[in-house]
Amino acid sequence: MLNKYLDLLAYFGIGGAHPGGFALTKSILQDQGLQPYESVLDIGCGTGQTAAYLAQKFGCKVTALDNHPIMIAKAQERIKDSSFPIKVIKGDVKNLVFEDNSFDVIISESVITFTNITKTLDELTRVLKTNGRMIMIEMTAEKDLSEELRSKVSSLYGIREVLNEEEWILKLKQAGFTKIDIIDTPPELKQSEVNDINQSENLSLELYDLLDMHNNFVHQYQSVIGFRAFNCHISK
Ligand SMILES: C[S@@+](CC[C@H](N)C(=O)[O-])C[C@H]1O[C@@H](n2cnc3c(N)ncnc32)[C@H](O)[C@@H]1O
Repeated sequence: MLNKYLDLLAYFGIGGAHPGGFALTKSILQDQGLQPYESVLDIGCGTGQTAAYLAQKFGCKVTALDNHPIMIAKAQERIKDSSFPIKVIKGDVKNLVFEDNSFDVIISESVITFTNITKTLDELTRVLKTNGRMIMIEMTAEKDLSEELRSKVSSLYGIREVLNEEEWILKLKQAGFTKIDIIDTPPELKQSEVNDINQSENLSLELYDLLDMHNNFVHQYQSVIGFRAFNCHISK
């Protein structure tokens, strides 16, 4: 894979690898009224923590998709002995194999930023059913980023741009979402707590160095780069 940061998450096997972590996921999902008859696509599912929870807690029919082979292997390992309605598949979110209007709900937790945002959002609105919805958590700029900081973000996370709230909303509307709400996130959940780990063997020192760089970066720039959780509706 080309993105060293995503490799780091995959090899360390970090679950809840998004701002606010799994605690934020649970807090958001409890208010969504998810039903067992609903089909849910978890894009960039990572090691499958959220996907497994969706199937187990709400009984939804879950499709968990990621393009990283190690993430897919760890997500499959997580669900191998379960009887929950969940499928884990390898695929690229920018070019989904699903037919138009396939899913009631899409979950995207810190994924779209790592892709070509416009292409991905177009794919997601295509596969969402009429009156479908997407819950999305994404890194968000709280202030204008200096050139120096942009280049730090780009070299550490391999991403091209950090959108601010207005820019996210504009991109979501351009992709066809018709109603976009910001989900209020409790302040105590702003720090991610990592408590779901499935580490590969023989990790390189380079990955440990990168983890330190990530932790230092988050600490140093937390007032400049935050996140938003969005509830995005579509009526086609
Ligand atoms: C920051 S991690 C978040 C993982 C998971 N959503 C979570 O919260 O733990 C981003 C995930 O998106 C996946 N990803 C990035 N680009 C992708 C793409 N084009 N297609 C599918 N998955 C992708 C990565 O492999 C990684 O698992």
